[in-house]
Amino acid sequence: MRTLIAGNWKMNALGGAGALALARTVREGAAEIFCDLLVCPAYPQLVPVASVLAGSAVALGAQDCHPEAEGPFTGDVSALMLAEAGASYVILGHSERRLGHGESDELVRAKVAAAAAAGLTPIVCVGETEAERLAGRAEEVVGHQLSASFGADFAGVIAYEPVWAIGSGRTPSSTDVAAIHGFIRRMLLDRLGARGAGLRLLYGGSVKPQNAAELLALSEVNGALVGGASLKAADFLAIARAVLRA
Ligand code: PGA
Repeated sequence: MRTLIAGNWKMNALGGAGALALARTVREGAAEIFCDLLVCPAYPQLVPVASVLAGSAVALGAQDCHPEAEGPFTGDVSALMLAEAGASYVILGHSERRLGHGESDELVRAKVAAAAAAGLTPIVCVGETEAERLAGRAEEVVGHQLSASFGADFAGVIAYEPVWAIGSGRTPSSTDVAAIHGFIRRMLLDRLGARGAGLRLLYGGSVKPQNAAELLALSEVNGALVGGASLKAADFLAIARAVLRA
């Protein structure tokens, strides 16, 4: 399966011009990259970035959506609106939403259904906190998130992102990443049958050019969800090029 390297720009202050320049440089670099590339800007930047990426191999994604198709939800954006803006992916259940906005597995599941109905590919994030890992509960927590955050018809991407690795410069050991990705693959096979074998599993949390090849070489790691290092085109493209060394 083709590796997916996804950039999560979050609410970082790139400025409108900065976002366009970043997208343009990623687009130019994509010609010599042998994996799928995706960038996920903030809502107001979706349409301008879509026009920079039009006709290129770089896909566009959003960082969240509302579970309803439409209605009186001030400040929210529907999955269909994202699709109309040019997005083909949407990140759902990121820990900055689960923990920062109290999003439950049930809410994430409703958003996944809304995204699928609008024709978007959901990227569902799962991952344990540091306290949960230290208590030996990483698989239990991730397993629960996986069973509750989408239905048996799921056709998207899973991103394993240990909360304590996000933005911290720390990553789990290769052994731990391989173990939990193996666990996630087995759970997907159990829940979704043979279809579970074809879904991409991304690792996320402090992925950088320096550690990308090692992480991407691990069994059942089919790509990366990159935050901080996706804000510099050179770093993001270096991570994508590391696929060749993995
Ligand atoms: P990071 O973020 O690469 O800055 O750790 C990853 C993420 O939150 O998706």
